Amino acid sequence: EKAGYKHFMAKEIAEQPVVIADALKHYVAGDGTLRLPEALDFKGVDRLTMVACGTASYATHVAKYWFEQIAGLPVEIDIASEFRYREPPLSPQQWALFVSQSGETADTLAALRYAKEHVGKVVSVVNVATSSIARESDLALPILAGVEVGVASTKAFTCQLTVLAILALKAALDRGRLDAAGLAGHLAALNALPGLMNHALGLSADISAVSKNLAEAQDILFLGRGPMFPLAMEGALKLKEISYIHAEGYASGELKHGPIALIDSHVPVIVLAPRDGLFDKTVSNMQEVMARHGKVVLISDAAGVAEAGAGCWKTITLPEVAAQFAPILYSVPAQLLAYHTAIAKGTDVDQPRNLAKSVTVE
Ligand code: M6R
Repeated sequence: EKAGYKHFMAKEIAEQPVVIADALKHYVAGDGTLRLPEALDFKGVDRLTMVACGTASYATHVAKYWFEQIAGLPVEIDIASEFRYREPPLSPQQWALFVSQSGETADTLAALRYAKEHVGKVVSVVNVATSSIARESDLALPILAGVEVGVASTKAFTCQLTVLAILALKAALDRGRLDAAGLAGHLAALNALPGLMNHALGLSADISAVSKNLAEAQDILFLGRGPMFPLAMEGALKLKEISYIHAEGYASGELKHGPIALIDSHVPVIVLAPRDGLFDKTVSNMQEVMARHGKVVLISDAAGVAEAGAGCWKTITLPEVAAQFAPILYSVPAQLLAYHTAIAKGTDVDQPRNLAKSVTVE
């Protein structure tokens, strides 16, 4: 059942190119049009509220950038445990979208039940299509990741991102923000991802060598900007869940507002930075870390590593990718770093202490 892999997590990380290609095939027809239920029409929707927990919540954080930048749709995001008790004012002109691998997370389900009383439509993005969250939504969209056994979510996260990207494109079409050529461009970028992820999977041995050093750290920071900021938080969550090393993800620009006080020669700082429009800003944050003897691990593309790799402790070079969808590709090294660090520490990767796969109690 582990198909020759040592752990479910390793198998599930490796499956990502295939399951993402499956999800894309499901939601994009051969003629390049989107295949979504007719009821999913964003015309007249003036706001989208997305709610989830844990890794699924980080998927909504990334998707906020897409809905706002590609579709011009204002988005609010919240974690379910806060949303459900805050009982925020909602209106029929807005939709609520819930993301959950299991579809049984107690807080997310309670948040959905609250929203259902107030919003125009409740949409869910789920892996388990027969789950409570799927059943109680007006529209449930499967992510088609297949069964995910590892407690640390990997392929469900990247499949959630893929489906959310498709939804952002649909919102952009419905709102008149995207023409056929624009859609084709975004779809070409998404369709390139499985191949790029295969390339990233091939870096596993290099990443494992970096992880052997990370395993000695007590604290690790992850930095990112734009849609890579939520991936920094996801990378930190993955690492702490399975290696038990304290890790935090920050927006690069927040560094000087506090966390830089943590930096000394013992603190590795993982910088997730494709060479996009914000790269130079991130490089200056990186230099601030290096000036304080922090150990920078730069994860970028060849152009980024050529430009800013000097002085870094380690570099990991990924292929080039469309900037907006970079979080999907950069998930792979973030997951592999966590995985190999946990292996180096000898922890139980698939069954980390104190955690359950499905959190059905609050
Ligand atoms: O089943 P869900 O997606 O609703 O679960 C949400 C979180 O409990 C889950 O993502 C958790 O954070 C994972 N252990 C992350 O790896």
